Amino acid sequence: MSRFLGKVLRIKMLRVSCAVLLLLLFLLGALAALLPSAHEDLILGVQRRISRASPSPQDSFTLIMQTYNRTDLLLKMLNHYQAMPHLHSVIVVWNNVGQDPPQEMWESLGPHPVPVYFKKQTVNLMRNRLQNFPEIETKAVLMMDDDTLISAHDLSFAFSVWQLFPSQIVGFVPRKHVASPTGIFSYGSFELVAPDAGRGDKYSMILIGAAFFHKGYLRLFQELPHSVHEMIDRTQNCDDITMNFLVANHTGMSSGVLVKPIDMRNLEKDAGSGYTGMWHRAEHLLQRSYCLNKLTSIYGKMPLVYSNIMISQFGFPNYANHKSKP
Ligand SMILES: *[C@@H]1O[C@H](CO)[C@@H](O)[C@H](O)[C@H]1NC(C)=O
Ligand SMILES: *[C@@H]1O[C@H](CO)[C@@H](O)[C@H](O)[C@H]1NC(C)=O
Repeated sequence: MSRFLGKVLRIKMLRVSCAVLLLLLFLLGALAALLPSAHEDLILGVQRRISRASPSPQDSFTLIMQTYNRTDLLLKMLNHYQAMPHLHSVIVVWNNVGQDPPQEMWESLGPHPVPVYFKKQTVNLMRNRLQNFPEIETKAVLMMDDDTLISAHDLSFAFSVWQLFPSQIVGFVPRKHVASPTGIFSYGSFELVAPDAGRGDKYSMILIGAAFFHKGYLRLFQELPHSVHEMIDRTQNCDDITMNFLVANHTGMSSGVLVKPIDMRNLEKDAGSGYTGMWHRAEHLLQRSYCLNKLTSIYGKMPLVYSNIMISQFGFPNYANHKSKP
């Protein structure tokens, strides 16, 4: 009897330990499914290694920065932008005619993450930066003024927006034209006059001092009528308005897409030379209205189209998420 009981007990214990073992196996299986497998680790590792290598021309952009009389700022900007994700190479348009670019110094402080090409110019022209430089290997061009600092995060986001809208100028600074009843156009800041009162404001241009656009537009710019180039050289202004006319006329759409920057700064005051941009001249805004009307007569129409699209990142941890306004 006791022997029989003992056997039953032993069988029961075996069953229990079997059940425990099965449960353990099940739990281990569930855990293993949650953790990345060794195979996945390998793939992630390879992807990480690939993304650290220099980006392919399809998935990257060329930074073009024109500079005049503020080399100290330029060097600051180069240090900031050279480590940008998706940056393929940098072209510095050197408008300090008769001076040598700081190439030796730059090279002595290398190695640098991407190649930087200093392009010495023979005349100081605003439209020098819109040449179709042979060094550009990417479809996307990022044009930046030499006094404007935009966070790497904003630029990466804007580049991903450009990849969705590659035929448009994707940038951070909107402007617009305003028509008067007499058919004369004025140049306006985005905030000032609503073209469609009560329904929010619109823009019709994106300035190219902080914008992505397709490299193909540089070639089209070179092919514009002589009268357009002459207008830009005479005023030393309006190359960006012209680019918006070019793109709008080419696509029949709004020339630009506005991305709302989280962190964008103007460092002009930091320039040791004290040189301040052309836009401080008293006639700057009047010239821009002049250019709007001049271009309209050259094109034989007003190609600019209004847009109210603004793309911003949801959930980006800017200050608004953390601090409430007093
Ligand atoms: C360029 O910078 C120097 C100071 O570094 C200044 O004396 C000169 O006037 C500047 N040139 C122009 C055209 O602003
Ligand atoms: C505007 O676009 C039309 C049609 O593509 C083209 O024929 C014309 O030359 C363009 N105008 C200018 C000034 O480039």
